[in-house]
Amino acid sequence: MNPVTPALSHSLLAAASSVAAVESGQSLTEALADVHPDVRPAAQALAFYAMRHWGWAKAVRRTLVEREPASATMYALIGLSLLLLDASIRAREESPAAGTPVYSAHTLVDQAVQATQWHRSTASFKGLVNAVLRRFQRERAVILSRIENDLEATWNHPRWWIESLQKNYPQNWQALLAAANAHPPLTLRVNIRATTRETVERAFAEQGIETTPFGVAGLVLRVPRPITSLPGYAQGWWSVQDAGAQLAAPMLDVKDGMQVLDACAAPGGKTAHLLELAKVDLTALDVDATRLERVHQNLKRLGLMRRGVRLVAESAIKTHIWWDGKPFDAVLADLPCTASGIVSRHPDIRWLRRAQDVQQTAKLAREILDSLWSVVAPGGKLLMVTCSIFPEEGEQQAQAFAAQHAQAERLSAPGQLLPHLPDAEHPAGYDGFFYALFTRRT
Ligand SMILES: C[S@@+](CC[C@H](N)C(=O)[O-])C[C@H]1O[C@@H](n2cnc3c(N)ncnc32)[C@H](O)[C@@H]1O
Repeated sequence: MNPVTPALSHSLLAAASSVAAVESGQSLTEALADVHPDVRPAAQALAFYAMRHWGWAKAVRRTLVEREPASATMYALIGLSLLLLDASIRAREESPAAGTPVYSAHTLVDQAVQATQWHRSTASFKGLVNAVLRRFQRERAVILSRIENDLEATWNHPRWWIESLQKNYPQNWQALLAAANAHPPLTLRVNIRATTRETVERAFAEQGIETTPFGVAGLVLRVPRPITSLPGYAQGWWSVQDAGAQLAAPMLDVKDGMQVLDACAAPGGKTAHLLELAKVDLTALDVDATRLERVHQNLKRLGLMRRGVRLVAESAIKTHIWWDGKPFDAVLADLPCTASGIVSRHPDIRWLRRAQDVQQTAKLAREILDSLWSVVAPGGKLLMVTCSIFPEEGEQQAQAFAAQHAQAERLSAPGQLLPHLPDAEHPAGYDGFFYALFTRRT
């Protein structure tokens, strides 16, 4: 059981305000950046927990609160407190799952009520928060039986999302949702330009950190830790990258001297991997200048910001602005998408997306792909990547692209990679990605 800290009411309020921000369309990372640094770690843990269980929280809240209060933060505080109260009651009967924040029921109710008092504007919600939480304690069994068959409450994803998976993956939609709700391991890719995997393994072992190797340069840590405290971070020995994403760069089979374009590069995970694999001339594009700055920082830390590397803040669609007419031997199109394949690492994504986003991002991705095709050299390759599991953004997109471009020949690539939990064969597991590789016929 977590110790009683005077800051719990502050963390609850900050987490609730971050959850409310997600509900209004802001990413959880952005929302947490606005939280006071003293409270942020605790608020982050609570908000991440809330996102993984928000379908349940909303369903229970609906049974208890008839009219949504004017304050979105107070409404989120009710949902969050209900979740934590339920975890505290369950902890008496079963041992809590890893990562479950458990407080005594008394502390929780007390601190949730206290959280309403930190602002004059929310103090009037004291009675409501208190009444809802006490009623949940009294009527829990009946309330839980009422939401038993609620899809969103069971799977903690929006209904439209669950229905899309049921339609597209009738055999394994439940496994996909379970994987999305699991806690992923921390997965690293060793920078083979800077060191060897053995050196990194040894440095971790010296600090008592257990790692398991996978693939060519991967290492996985079962227990995630703050990355900047791990050995070799400052020296650029490794990057954090999911095992599924580590497949991308090698598929382009880059060789020294090749002209390479990374068209949607930020924050630069795959850009760095390409530069680790060969001494290529590389142009990294991203439409978002702020995100592109992160590519710069990452390449600098990894010692890869060398001659022949060009970073351009521009849209891939506007080839007339950034392209000098020299065709590329290899083009990586890591397209903007709903990110439905990486929900276990970003549990807020499911609540940020709307059903119509799937078509909209697929349309933008299609425009980017069509533009990029014009810069691929004869015999050159274009790798289409998304971190989505919706076929509209993956296989359907790849087929439409191939049908449109007669010179595009589809080569062997994994296609739809569905999220996979770690097991003996895949110790790091992997997120969901889509890969299609094309070459321009000569
Ligand atoms: C999936 S992320 C890329 C991840 C990156 N390749 C990595 O491995 O770290 C997609 C990126 O596409 C960028 N983007 C969106 N529209 C774009 C456009 N029209 N042109 C270039 N980049 C774009 C986004 O800003 C975002 O950084």
